Amino acid sequence: GAASKGEYRHFMLKEIHEQPQVIAATLEGRLSERGVLVKSFGANAEVLFSRAKQVHIVACGTSYHAGMVARYWLERYAGLPTQVEVASEYRYRQVVVPEGTLFVTLSQSGETADTLAALRFAQHSGYLGSLAICNVPGSSLVRESDLTLMTQAGPEIGVASTKAFTTQLTALLLFTLALGKQRGMEEARQTAIITALRGLPTLLSQVLALDGQIETLSAAFAEKHHALFLGRGAHFPIALEGALKLKEISYIHAEAYPAGELKHGPLALVDSEMPVISVAPNDELLDKLKSNLQEVRARGGELFVFADEQVAINAEEGVHILRLPHVDEALTPILYTLPLQLLSYHVAVLKGTDVDQPRNLAKSVTVE
Ligand code: G6P
Repeated sequence: GAASKGEYRHFMLKEIHEQPQVIAATLEGRLSERGVLVKSFGANAEVLFSRAKQVHIVACGTSYHAGMVARYWLERYAGLPTQVEVASEYRYRQVVVPEGTLFVTLSQSGETADTLAALRFAQHSGYLGSLAICNVPGSSLVRESDLTLMTQAGPEIGVASTKAFTTQLTALLLFTLALGKQRGMEEARQTAIITALRGLPTLLSQVLALDGQIETLSAAFAEKHHALFLGRGAHFPIALEGALKLKEISYIHAEAYPAGELKHGPLALVDSEMPVISVAPNDELLDKLKSNLQEVRARGGELFVFADEQVAINAEEGVHILRLPHVDEALTPILYTLPLQLLSYHVAVLKGTDVDQPRNLAKSVTVE
């Protein structure tokens, strides 16, 4: 029957809370003890994947941000050169396709006009083949692609995408591991990531339990007109996604920057009226991120940091820290997405906007 909000005030909140289950569902039946089952992508996947020398990923909106994260994974774990582009730019460019390139589209709906047009262009542009990672069975994108991997997010009603995004990331990590396996990715690393993936739903539930604390933080944003999101590496796209969520549903102007670019412009905007949000998993870029955060603080900017529980970083005047459970570093982009979704949600509720149906936006953009 028709999707219902159940006990939740909005579909978006319900969909945020569904993430542990739908990520488990996206993993279901696709892993064995020895790794990812490549046939999950289609009968021809083994052959096409083994021939791939590089990857082009094309998508729009939130799905594009998932593609940006995948670039870090594919290069790091599978050694595959990867390009990621929004479909509306890709389709009007004179794209040069190197031999052995796999074409990948990402889409919740499978009906986004630009993404579909990009696939149709790619079909006669010399690609090895096409893969769609999509949430709607039988959609145009799924019907027209050589290979498919369905995300198992279930119907997503909120216009601002949440569970579709994190299930796309999960699917993209499966894709990375499938390609990595054929390209000599260390077996111990594979196993560690797969073990961590199996434990991910439980960790995500722990993050969702921080909802009350995130709601408290959200009060600081209700009167603000701007916000800046910072991240490095695979968390730069997560910062972009955090900023997009805030824009879409709270109508606060938000920008995301790679933390290392702070001094090349956005620092000029930082003052006490510009809250700065950052994700700080305990990775190799942490020390660099910390010095960026000090620069913000020195200009009076109020900081909101989502940090690994093991990170040595302390709350002080103007610095709010929210600790997240430790997770294998391959999975941090998924884990750190959740508090940003919840933050935007609570800011929007405080502002009284139409959370599930933001003004001027559509769930699926089926015309150019
Ligand atoms: C619209 C939606 C976004 C979505 C984007 C791409 O802009 O509001 O939430 O990310 O389309 O949609 P797709 O269905 O291709 O993922």
